[in-house]
Amino acid sequence: MSMNGNGFPDGFRFGVATAAYQIEGAVREDGRGESIWDRFSHIPGTIDGGDNGDVACDHYHRWRGDLDLMKALGVESYRFSISWPRVLPFGNGQVNRRGVDFYRRLVDGMRERGIEPIATLYHWDLPQALQDLGGWDSRETTQRFADYATLMAEELGDVSQWITHNEPWVVAFLGHAHGVKAPGMRDWHTALRVSHHLLLSHGLARRAIHAALPDARVGASLNLTPIRPGSESDEDVAAARRQDGYMNRWFLDPLLRGGYPTDMVELYESRFGHMDAIRDGDLELIADSLDFLGVNYYFPQRVRHAEAGGPLQVEPVPGPPPLTAMGWEIDPQGLHDLLIRLRDEYSPPPIYITENGAAFDDPPINGKGYVDDEGRTEYLRGHLDALRAAIAEGVDVRRYCLWSLLDNFEWEHGYAMRFGIVHVDYDSQRRVPKRSGLWYRDYIHGVRNGGGS
Ligand code: FCB
Repeated sequence: MSMNGNGFPDGFRFGVATAAYQIEGAVREDGRGESIWDRFSHIPGTIDGGDNGDVACDHYHRWRGDLDLMKALGVESYRFSISWPRVLPFGNGQVNRRGVDFYRRLVDGMRERGIEPIATLYHWDLPQALQDLGGWDSRETTQRFADYATLMAEELGDVSQWITHNEPWVVAFLGHAHGVKAPGMRDWHTALRVSHHLLLSHGLARRAIHAALPDARVGASLNLTPIRPGSESDEDVAAARRQDGYMNRWFLDPLLRGGYPTDMVELYESRFGHMDAIRDGDLELIADSLDFLGVNYYFPQRVRHAEAGGPLQVEPVPGPPPLTAMGWEIDPQGLHDLLIRLRDEYSPPPIYITENGAAFDDPPINGKGYVDDEGRTEYLRGHLDALRAAIAEGVDVRRYCLWSLLDNFEWEHGYAMRFGIVHVDYDSQRRVPKRSGLWYRDYIHGVRNGGGS
């Protein structure tokens, strides 16, 4: 691999990531249909502060300025997501031209500014009309997803980087077993079926995109996390192994090793019955179906054995301070260890870091007109160092997309959790730089100009 002198390989790009429901707003404009997040966020008590994504960052109207902001920061790739109900209000059938045109203009705007588009098809906003037909619990939805993928590949044929799913673990388990995210269900058997349907739909969508765009690169983004046992006891080590199966291996193994991990299949079947969603041919479609592996990394987890710790019999052990505003441990080494493990145990295709970042209670805008977010700046510095160390040890990483460009609607936490490298004043929709954003700009500049960092 040839390097550019600063520890990043040729062709490596620095980017930022966002998601449609978290920034766009304009939920009833230009023919957009309802999504499960519109429905869920309007149920009283589901979202902190009674917030919802109706307006969010108003990016639907302010996208030009937001792209200008990216360009000013020197951002090279932009990972955005397409709102499925904006282009297909009922999930399939009738195409909403005005919705498609929005993404067409957005991608053109990136091109004009020299920014590479990375399009995510599913960042959690299923059309409500498909939820009404069973959502991801229904195998039919996998076919609808492939049709949607075909539509977008044909409409945005100049986009060469595609992500089918963002964090299928979150969709399956937080959405269907724990009920804290849309559609808010609490049933493990359903969650397991959903996890399989998500993987299957990835395989189908990838095939659909390649049929339209043979040269496109198609991946999926998994939220992966190193799991540390709370102690060296056999019980805690076994608990950590189960948590690893639940969080990491359940998705990595079918994608990269051809099947679900047998220890987890046994555990799940003993508690929730036969995994009836898996049909002949499914595993073949899922196996080896990544042109790149998207990795979202935020924090490692520590767990110990607990009889009453749910079906997995694990409970979290608090990490050492400092923690982010989300209560997440700050551990750049975890990113390094995760990447080395992926290389050693999975021989993955090229890796894209598709999300990494942190929420902090930022100070107010200072006298110099920016937000001095030292914690986030340090978080990013540490993680980029860890990434560079893993690359130096031979891990093939080709993108780094920071979460996130803007403060935005952080799902069940509403607007209270701020992840942006640019501050958003939600009353005026004014964007104000943070120190982390300026630091990231200088970092990218330093790498590109050989000045180190
Ligand atoms: C990830 C999500 C993303 C954002 C970050 C903080 O799980 O993919 O939308 O909420 O966490």
